[in-house]
Amino acid sequence: MAVGANLMLRTETVPVTCVVGLQWGDEAKGKIVDLLTEGHEIVVRYQGGSNAGHTVVVGGESFKLSLVPSGIFRPNVQCVVAGGVVLNPKSLLVEIDDLTRRSVRVGENLMISDRAHVVFPWHFEEDRLLDQLASGGEAIGTTQRGIGPCYRDKVGRSLAVRLGDLYHDGFAEQIARIVEAKRRILVGLGAAPEEITLDAASIAREYAGYARRLAPHVADTTAFLLDAVEAGKRILFEGAQGALLDIDHGTFPYVTSSNSSGVGVSSGSGVPGRHVNRVVGVIKAYTTRVGGGPFPTEQDNATGQHIRRRGNEYGTVTRRPRRCGWFDAVAARYTSRLSGVDELAVMLLDVLDELAELKICIAYELDGKRTTNFPGQVDDLRRVVPVYETLPGWQQPTSDVRRLADLPENAKRYLDRIAQLLGRPATIVSIGPDREQTIVVEK
Ligand code: IMO
Ligand code: MG
Repeated sequence: MAVGANLMLRTETVPVTCVVGLQWGDEAKGKIVDLLTEGHEIVVRYQGGSNAGHTVVVGGESFKLSLVPSGIFRPNVQCVVAGGVVLNPKSLLVEIDDLTRRSVRVGENLMISDRAHVVFPWHFEEDRLLDQLASGGEAIGTTQRGIGPCYRDKVGRSLAVRLGDLYHDGFAEQIARIVEAKRRILVGLGAAPEEITLDAASIAREYAGYARRLAPHVADTTAFLLDAVEAGKRILFEGAQGALLDIDHGTFPYVTSSNSSGVGVSSGSGVPGRHVNRVVGVIKAYTTRVGGGPFPTEQDNATGQHIRRRGNEYGTVTRRPRRCGWFDAVAARYTSRLSGVDELAVMLLDVLDELAELKICIAYELDGKRTTNFPGQVDDLRRVVPVYETLPGWQQPTSDVRRLADLPENAKRYLDRIAQLLGRPATIVSIGPDREQTIVVEK
């Protein structure tokens, strides 16, 4: 057989999986990544930064991850933070220390790209000042982790620092030059000059310290991953945020600054998208959003409060109460198509256990016209009126169910309807945070 044919066969049969959130983040992707890691050798974070908050419950113990891939809990899994991530070294080290203290091994099993852009104190300042400036309209309500400013510097190039730069001789001078420019920028954004405490020498020293500690993890992850693909390794890509927060395809400008839909895999990791042969779209059985921006199915009422309380819908990173609402099939159908989703993981179904009736948004009405297209303009999205379909609730606890057949009939109906509207099967249903509280649907 020709070498080429051989390679083709391999890419078709070896699972290279991508897990991506299909809403506005917080879909419980961490749990799915943790579960699916079992069949994979490498887990890759490829975009976002410490704006992400992934909760993984292992043996009743809850771990909150921000930058470390959720594969870290499985021995023999190589975790990779790829170049598309913006890296706050301080928060990464806090995370590593916390894991180590709790007996989770973090050594050569964590690899970090030397291409990752580094978050600095000025990015935090810019994040704060710019979100205030934007509040003439509605503020984006960022996580204030310096994510947008760091990505902006990456695209702007002149004031950017990559992890690899921390190991160069000229690093202190590079920082001095950037601090000089950032002072002027911060004043321009409204900071009082005496409030700007940036000291180039101490920042350079501080980051040199982080660089020393991170050195054993730093690598050319692009080369590593391309080799891994050619060697037929089983790779799992872990998306952060959700597709509706995608910088290019989400609800701009109320989005994050990276490609958080499935399209981000190749730019973020360097692995061509054609190698990914299984895309798992993660959805909540309802919808939530943190921060500003339109949210057509929002329930700012007793139903929303009920969901928030039952689902403990408070931000992992910022503890902000999440906005809650009905499942929006128009939005999720759009993002499943956008991300090339093959199958759905439906999370937090048990949160709906007590409700007598459930609504699913099946279309929007915009200027009196009915549509199932998700608008590209935020002003249109603000004006849409959701068209709902009402389904009966099941009003029974589901957290102890382990087989699809044992779910209440109305819960099965609800799941079937979502799968039908999105045109993809639901292959995983989650009815609680623990690994065991999972229904894997036989195909
Ligand atoms: P995970 O990975 C939910 C939201 C913020 C804000 C917008 C921009 O846990 O699903 P940023 O700080 O990224 O510039 O904020 O994006 N946001 C998230 N919402 N889950 C996340 O991550 C989020 N990361 C960012 O609330 O509206
Ligand atoms: Mg989160």
